[in-house]
Amino acid sequence: ELPFAESWKIKMIEPIRKSTRQEREQWMKEAHYNVFQLSADRVYIDLLTDSGTGAMSDRQWAAMMVGDESYAGASSFYQMKDAVTRITGFEYVLPTHQGRGAENVLFSCLIKEGDICPGNSHFDTTKGHIEMRKAFAVDCTIDEAKNTQLEIPFKGNVDINKLEAVLKKDGDRVPFIIMTCTNNTSGGQPVSMRNLRETKALADKYGKKVIIDSARFAENAYFIKTREEGYADKSIKEICREMFSYAHCMTMSAKKDAIVNMGGFIATNVQEWYDAAKVKNIIFEGYITYGGMSGRDMNALAVGLDENTEFENLETRIKQVEYLGKKLDEYGIPYQRPTGGHAIFVDAPKVLTHVPKEQFPAQTLAVELYLEAGIRGCEIGYLLADRDPITRQNRFNGLDLLRLAIPRRVYTNNHMDVIAAALKNVFDRRESITKGMEIEWEAELMRHFTVKLKRA
Ligand code: F0G
Repeated sequence: ELPFAESWKIKMIEPIRKSTRQEREQWMKEAHYNVFQLSADRVYIDLLTDSGTGAMSDRQWAAMMVGDESYAGASSFYQMKDAVTRITGFEYVLPTHQGRGAENVLFSCLIKEGDICPGNSHFDTTKGHIEMRKAFAVDCTIDEAKNTQLEIPFKGNVDINKLEAVLKKDGDRVPFIIMTCTNNTSGGQPVSMRNLRETKALADKYGKKVIIDSARFAENAYFIKTREEGYADKSIKEICREMFSYAHCMTMSAKKDAIVNMGGFIATNVQEWYDAAKVKNIIFEGYITYGGMSGRDMNALAVGLDENTEFENLETRIKQVEYLGKKLDEYGIPYQRPTGGHAIFVDAPKVLTHVPKEQFPAQTLAVELYLEAGIRGCEIGYLLADRDPITRQNRFNGLDLLRLAIPRRVYTNNHMDVIAAALKNVFDRRESITKGMEIEWEAELMRHFTVKLKRA
């Protein structure tokens, strides 16, 4: 049998630049040890996010040239709407500028003060849009997701018993259940078809509706095909249709699985939701046939959705994440297992065992990896968790991870080798890293974006 290779070849390249350790020491200091404050040209391999950072295909670029920029009724809107309806089964489609725009529009219609929105782990902006309306996001993810070394196929699942407990106790305060596929916060881990089916049955029992936060739905479908019994012979598009048949609505950040640099949408079959969201869309995003997107971007989105719901494209992508995971296995570096769809999440406290939690191990590891090789990852841990709104104490009860998000179709496996080798160098000198970071200044909410740090 022949070895595995990418399902595409490269037509356009973008040079990237290495730097010296001395330069990076200086730049990191100037950035107050916060990788968000670095200018991107000071980064060699950028793993900050897989959002909006993918490489579009020649077909997507070609589609951009024939974008229709009409204010109302642009053909580009219908291209996009047709692709969304064909892939998801949802008839009503509202474009938004990105995922959080979709959340803002939809939640403005659905959430009121005191409501409870249960689901698997909510993404930060989703949680933010719930909490800013003085409602509560209740994370009902299975407990197994917190054990990074446990290897089970669907670590993104919701715990049906936890979910039912919320519905039983506070059902009248629940406007919807939200399922994030894949579950970004738990490590890009997938949700099984069975779990989606059971969630829908439970929702029906309590007269509730289900929303899928769909940023990485196609990657989720890949895992269903490759890991869940009964789906090996189904196409990704068939699997997607079935996934969405267990929901009433979706919010989408198209910057991930539609492989565009900017864009998003809401799609649903619930006419009342659509009618209400239309009004908010016009106020917040733009008219209902563009919602903050250019015609050309809607065209690219339509093509991207189609391409990325093909098995070969997903296989190329997810095998690359797996490749990096296997390298880390060789070196014994602990991460959230098994490898997820879009990123590797290194278990930082298991690496930097001498850095106390008060000094932010994952952030310290992010800084060390940048200093080592100019690689930019992102802390998904104690800094990002913010302080408890009432006690103002740091929240140390979750995981403290360094996320290495892999942009789609951007880096080669040679880059993965560099990432793994750089991380190994840090890992090899982990015993000598005894001091972490101290906060100099922080914002009240979403502090990780702007926090100023110094060495402890
Ligand atoms: N939902 C999920 C699961 C996400 O991962 C994101 C964004 C959003 C919603 C919001 O979408 O950025 O288009 O407004 N995640 C990015 C990340 C930013 O780096 O994980 P957006």
